[in-house]
Amino acid sequence: MPNDNLVVIAAMARKGGSGKTTLSRALISAAVAANRRVLLIDTDSTGVLSAWHSRADAAGLASPLLTSAVAQSVAEVDQMIEQAYEAASADFVFIDTAGVGAEWSDDIAVLADHIVTPVMLSTSDFDVGGQTVSWFRNLAGRVDDPSALPQHHVVLNMVDPKSTKADAALIEQAVGVFPLIETVMLRRNAYKEMDQKGMLHAIALQKQADPNPLMRPHVRHVVEALEEATDILNNVLAA
Ligand SMILES: Nc1ncnc2c1ncn2[C@@H]1O[C@H](COP(=O)(O)OP(=O)(O)OP(=O)(O)O)[C@@H](O)[C@H]1O
Ligand SMILES: [Mg+2]
Repeated sequence: MPNDNLVVIAAMARKGGSGKTTLSRALISAAVAANRRVLLIDTDSTGVLSAWHSRADAAGLASPLLTSAVAQSVAEVDQMIEQAYEAASADFVFIDTAGVGAEWSDDIAVLADHIVTPVMLSTSDFDVGGQTVSWFRNLAGRVDDPSALPQHHVVLNMVDPKSTKADAALIEQAVGVFPLIETVMLRRNAYKEMDQKGMLHAIALQKQADPNPLMRPHVRHVVEALEEATDILNNVLAA
């Protein structure tokens, strides 16, 4: 039986380096920690996410619940989603992209149920974030069936844990202009560690089991990152 509950989430942003891949990894970690099966489709030709998956596998910090594939074309992405749907082999499909502006952005967008756009907390990043939001709004005029379009969500990223007045003002501004997810992504070393090593929950478990008691306080930071990612995923799904 096909999986009618399959959820397809694509990370897209006009700005490079805004955190698409980091957000994808965090959401994948959250989904897998919740025991869901995930198919990760990497459309970024640099293949960083699939390299990350191999690295995680080698370190024992991946999960049998995660499979990944590299797609060279929209047709391939479409085929992979169709297959996951028909075979009911996944609960989530995550698509990491190289950025909006590529000619296939529209085609990827219509395959997704949700688009997540990370926007870093700065005035310049907000400008480019606004362009992504406009791209999505204009998409309705370019597709045959606008009612089938995914939902668009903006996630503020790289928010300093010690937020300043200027940050607070930017966050307030973001609430007014973006389809904003309530939970922000903090700037966290745990996300760097996730990049380096593998999935958040697996890192937390490894630290917990570490015979060196000095490692244990670090568990908290990883668990907090996982909680943040879980909140973001739940917010996306609830919208
Ligand atoms: N919340 C965060 N906390 C700490 N570091 C972060 C965070 N978000 C992103 N980074 C770092 O910022 C850099 C860029 O992030 P990332 O690779 O996720 O962006 P991207 O949008 O996928 O970039 P590209 O357009 O090149 O694909 C990376 O070094 C990543 O580790
Ligand atoms: Mg990337």
